[in-house]
Amino acid sequence: MGQLLSGSRSCLDVPGRLLPQPPPPPPPVRRKLALLFAMLCIWLYMFLYSCASSCAAAPGLLLLGSGSRAAHAPPALASAPDGTPLRLPFQAAPATPLTAGKETAEGAASQEEQSPEAPDSPSPISSFFSGSGSKQLPQAIIIGVKKGGTRALLEFLRVHPDVRAVGAEPHFFDRSYDKGLAWYRDLMPRTLDGQITMEKTPSYFVTREAPARISAMSKDTKLIVVVRDPVTRAISDYTQTLSKRPDIPTFESLTFKNRTTGVIDTSWSAIQIGIYAKHLEHWLRHFPIGQMLFVSGERLISDPAGELGRVQDFLGLKRIITDKHFYFNKTKGFPCLKKAEGSSKPHCLGKTKGRTHPEIDREVVQRLRAFYRPFNLKFYQMTGHDFGWD
Ligand code: A3P
Repeated sequence: MGQLLSGSRSCLDVPGRLLPQPPPPPPPVRRKLALLFAMLCIWLYMFLYSCASSCAAAPGLLLLGSGSRAAHAPPALASAPDGTPLRLPFQAAPATPLTAGKETAEGAASQEEQSPEAPDSPSPISSFFSGSGSKQLPQAIIIGVKKGGTRALLEFLRVHPDVRAVGAEPHFFDRSYDKGLAWYRDLMPRTLDGQITMEKTPSYFVTREAPARISAMSKDTKLIVVVRDPVTRAISDYTQTLSKRPDIPTFESLTFKNRTTGVIDTSWSAIQIGIYAKHLEHWLRHFPIGQMLFVSGERLISDPAGELGRVQDFLGLKRIITDKHFYFNKTKGFPCLKKAEGSSKPHCLGKTKGRTHPEIDREVVQRLRAFYRPFNLKFYQMTGHDFGWD
């Protein structure tokens, strides 16, 4: 029967038993082509794999994603500690920024301009290798304040091997809460055991719903707030808006409800964000003060290594980032990294950080200083830290 089937002697070495026929050896050209094809497949696989983790939180996608609103949203998805998706017993309401006023709430909490220092992952190759870890919800969040120096802090922290952070601002707890925790976690980079997942979205600090929402995710979340002299912060905020809309009124005219009576317009977001003590009260209803770290925006410029030391201690990290990591760039006028994460080159923040501020009427500045003084003193008491703005 074997003979009948094979019709060839070489297929039979034992009479009556059929053996598989070896395929004819491929010609060398075909073999080379097959090898080339296999290599191409491996390369494509690596590329797509790394892209899957790095593109998930790409700014463009985030912007598209944040467009949907709770009214049209499906019920929020959360996940159990084991990662199983769960349905939350609530439908997210749109968050209420405490910054409504001359500038729209949307504008006040607007997403940071994308700059080259905000990649979502250092490089396709490193994200490929980090593909072995898993995505976790953040254990620590930089919640504010806008124009405080939040980008500088995150970029400096990312130098630490045990910190992995999403580069773009997720705006989950203010704009995209209806998308659910599973969506949020998917934005995060993969981490290995012992690494901390972080994100920064400065508008959380002034969002009413954010403290309860973050606490519902985890009561243990560590919160970092970079604060800066509220008067300088307001001018910095205004400078940012001016760079996008050069036709806006002067800072002086926006500061007052009525310039002659001298009543300050606290509904203007640039002014309201700086009333730190008021915003902090909301957070303290959900988090103990010990779970919050207040970083001085001024010291982050004058002594970045000192502030980074405090932050590393707070996060329970080994003090790896030291003054050896920084140099002062005279052209930029700010401290810069000798080596950015995933690179061997010196790195300063982009041109949207460290703008030249317009000259503001001294009298208006004095008036604002007087306005903020009692709030600042209250803030010093609450945090146990004198930031020296008065
Ligand atoms: P200005 O542009 O008004 O100077 P944020 O990242 O929260 O938007 O804060 C922006 C501010 O970070 C900048 O405000 C700048 O003063 C401050 N900053 C702190 N450290 C910096 C650094 N190393 N390089 C550039 N800007 C830095």
